Amino acid sequence: MVTVKGTAKWLKLRTSLLFAGKTVGFVPTMGALHAGHLSLLRRAKRENDLAVASIFVNPAQFNDPRDLERYPRTLAEDIKKLEAERTDFLLLPSAGDMYPDGYRYRLSETNDSKVLCGAHRPGHFEGVLTVVLKLLNLVRADRAYFGEKDYQQYHLIKGMAEAFFTGTSIVPCPIMREPDGLAMSSRNLLLEPGERKLAPALYKALRSPARPAGIKKRLAALGFEPEYVEERWGRRFAAAKLGKVRLIDNVQI
Ligand code: PAF
Repeated sequence: MVTVKGTAKWLKLRTSLLFAGKTVGFVPTMGALHAGHLSLLRRAKRENDLAVASIFVNPAQFNDPRDLERYPRTLAEDIKKLEAERTDFLLLPSAGDMYPDGYRYRLSETNDSKVLCGAHRPGHFEGVLTVVLKLLNLVRADRAYFGEKDYQQYHLIKGMAEAFFTGTSIVPCPIMREPDGLAMSSRNLLLEPGERKLAPALYKALRSPARPAGIKKRLAALGFEPEYVEERWGRRFAAAKLGKVRLIDNVQI
């Protein structure tokens, strides 16, 4: 695997013969890689000539500075996992590389980014859409892969990629779950043992025949701090806090 630090070096490499005539699959990540990320990489590898991953903990998408500080960073292990998946290239930009403009230029969506997580995390999707557009411009992939755990994120990125004619197909990938049903997430690493035991109850509650308001009450009674349980786009979505950790999940209705 070729690891490239910095966007200037990357752009030089991207226009080199190494990429000539090859299809490119891209998996953007914030690191702390788990089996969910690796399933995206496997698919990128299977469906394209070259697989590119990026690791960048994007400050612009964290509305809470403590969340950014606590976000797990496991670069050495991540590199080993990417190598085991035979990833061809890893892009590792710095905040200075990604925001030479100091985040003066940013991308917003005016409708679907205002509901669900967008209603509770001001500025979050602006940060996500801005960084993903920058990454898509850098990587110029044929396909980019996103997990459906962050379904709203996938939905907004797909709309943005089409609206701005990026030329990259946005591919949704099914949620990967632990054996007890908990959706895989880098944030799961931050759960205390008692919270980890309780966490799969979020998925169980989402699948219950109860209405969203009833599910929200049930989650609160179990010890979660529910933010929302809502249905749209043929899915049921929930976000809830367990201690300091914010969990999200969704199921098809
Ligand atoms: O889902 C994530 O890990 C991030 O939101 C993404 C898409 C890599 C953008 O920073």
